[in-house]
Amino acid sequence: MKRAGIIGIGHYVPETVVTNKDLEEKLDTSDEWITTRTGIRERRIASDEMDTSDLATQAALAAIENAGIGVEEIDLILVATSTADYHGFPSVACLVQNKLKAKTVGAMDVSAACSGFIYAMVMAKQFIETGANQRVLVIGAEKMSKMVDWSDRNTAVLFGDGAGAVILGPVSEDRGILSYEMGADGSGADELFVDDYLQMNGREVFKFAVRQMPDTIQRVVDQAGLTVSEVDFLIPHQANTRIIQSAADKLGIPEQKVSVTVDKYGNTSSASIPLSLVQEVQLGKIEDGDLLVLVGFGAGLTWASLTLRW
Ligand code: ACO
Repeated sequence: MKRAGIIGIGHYVPETVVTNKDLEEKLDTSDEWITTRTGIRERRIASDEMDTSDLATQAALAAIENAGIGVEEIDLILVATSTADYHGFPSVACLVQNKLKAKTVGAMDVSAACSGFIYAMVMAKQFIETGANQRVLVIGAEKMSKMVDWSDRNTAVLFGDGAGAVILGPVSEDRGILSYEMGADGSGADELFVDDYLQMNGREVFKFAVRQMPDTIQRVVDQAGLTVSEVDFLIPHQANTRIIQSAADKLGIPEQKVSVTVDKYGNTSSASIPLSLVQEVQLGKIEDGDLLVLVGFGAGLTWASLTLRW
């Protein structure tokens, strides 16, 4: 059986850069506090004219071009997002289908917060490996800026807007997604939620992340019959460099094998993993046959991870 793997990647970030210095003018905060606590230096913020489906569509177009396929070949569209254009429905995936002028194939959103992109990749894998689909467009896209309370320094400094996309298809027996885990513990729902605006118990989410990330990485690596020392690149959800470092240290993964993009994009929720993946591929850091681990955690509380042979 040919495993599902990535055959194209793309990303899009808005042009407007908001630095920590810019935030100092609006909030009781400092570049020093934000940098030392989170590693974030700047983030991208979308204009009023661009909503999540626009960010998603731009990333999708880049991924389609990168894959060298025609838009008409896409046979399923999955969008991981928590910041849909509309409250409720229609889904971002439907809007993307129309904006791309893709065929009227199945299209739906996946709601698992910052773990959503991996959840969606795992779903795509099932459809591909049963033979139901050949070219699945998976997007992580967020306009976090519209759900942040810009007067709340506890959360406003953390988030940014952006989108990343991949095309998944059958690749080969020994490449593609080798193993995966999805998890959810709704008893932590109150730690991170959106009513009118995003609210978070930062310390509890921090503790959850530093505990769960290394554990889930270890489990998916074991499941693939591999060892952590064989991992060539770790692509973690980008919320905070201290969380990423803690997970990598616990597993003994050296810094040069760990992707960090939170410094320039902030936390873009479900977009952060594909944005990081695109950066590392574009920098030439990921080579044919490399073993990647993708890992996410977030509201729900949820977590997800997978191993992928590039
Ligand atoms: N500028 C200056 N001071 C601030 C700011 C700010 N922007 N924000 C908070 N503070 C203050 C607090 O008020 C507090 O002051 P106090 O001690 O007088 O009460 C102090 O700084 C320390 O606050 P803590 O919350 O203890 O700071 P901590 O070191 O835990 O860092 C942070 C906070 C960055 C939020 C951290 O807890 C974290 O990253 N948590 C994980 C968050 C996360 O990953 N969320 C996303 C999950 S993904 C998803 O699903 C969307």
